[in-house]
Amino acid sequence: MPPLPPEDPPPGIDREALTRTVAMVNDKGGVGKTSLVANLAGQFAAAGYRCLLVDLNRQANLADDLGFRDGPADDRGAGLLVSVVAGTPLRPVEGVRPGLDVVAGGARLVDLVPLMVSRVQEQGREAFLALAEVLAPVAGDYDLVFIDCPPETTILTDLALAAARWVLMPTKSDGGGLVGMRLVGERFALARELNPDLGLLGAVLFATGSRSRVVHAEVREAVEEAFGGHSPLFTTSIRHAERTAQDARRLGRLAHELEQEVAAQPAWWAALREGGGGSARRLSPTAASVAGDYRDLGVELLTLLRATEESATGSTIPGARPDQEATP
Ligand SMILES: Nc1ncnc2c1ncn2[C@@H]1O[C@H](COP(=O)(O)OP(=O)(O)OP(=O)(O)O)[C@@H](O)[C@H]1O
Ligand SMILES: [Mg+2]
Repeated sequence: MPPLPPEDPPPGIDREALTRTVAMVNDKGGVGKTSLVANLAGQFAAAGYRCLLVDLNRQANLADDLGFRDGPADDRGAGLLVSVVAGTPLRPVEGVRPGLDVVAGGARLVDLVPLMVSRVQEQGREAFLALAEVLAPVAGDYDLVFIDCPPETTILTDLALAAARWVLMPTKSDGGGLVGMRLVGERFALARELNPDLGLLGAVLFATGSRSRVVHAEVREAVEEAFGGHSPLFTTSIRHAERTAQDARRLGRLAHELEQEVAAQPAWWAALREGGGGSARRLSPTAASVAGDYRDLGVELLTLLRATEESATGSTIPGARPDQEATP
């Protein structure tokens, strides 16, 4: 019998397709991960970019923020689970907004955790490449891909860190967010053994009432401590705006969509005259300012990505942002 031809080596992961994949990570809950991915992707899509959101959360707040919970796009994470189990490319739900596709999270992701535990026991940490393998074949269709990571479920975060090119890390200015950041720093270092391209794009101050330099300096120091000497903190922060946040999640609208609705709502005195219930159901006018914060952050983020891509060679810090190159 003639000898069998040598088997083809398994196809590698197309890292090129994942160069604009950003994981939104902080082990601490409630620091703005979901609000940021939804609003950034929503604004980019509204500006004409093709965007994909991948939700790794069992509670799937993204479905609330984008208003698709219990609708046809909401498979509660079943598609994502099947892809990872079978190793088949993800099949995003198209057009949650024009230009914005989604791979939904939800209760079905509960099964992903034990599956990953047993795979890691069999294959070692290489098993965390499972998301990269099923995301890469579709990521090239998009200008930007965001992965919304869960709090505390480190095994799912490890999947995201093995797939992404960049980490973006929201934090509040209180101690909790900063502790979460330190935990991310540890997982980031481990993930780079599998995914050497992974870089820290930066930290973003979320729901802050303060523009004070002292607060910013403290957060910068915490990022430095967590990530070993690099201190990228975005200049733009997202302001504290509780009513706008409540309106957004209740109505399934993004800040820039609320901004348009606020502009269209009748003046309060006209609403009163027409018996519209006074101020009870009126949208908070702060939506416009919050939308402006997300817009500024989006511009900052794109500018950074472009600069990184243009100066892709000659980096002394692997995965570093170009503005860190000159930093000793
Ligand atoms: N600008 C804002 N100011 C104040 N609160 C906000 C703002 N934007 C969103 N929120 C609220 O903050 C809370 C946490 O936000 P979000 O769900 O985005 O955080 P998260 O990090 O994704 O949380 P989790 O870790 O539980 O997934 C939510 O209740 C949200 O409505
Ligand atoms: Mg969330």
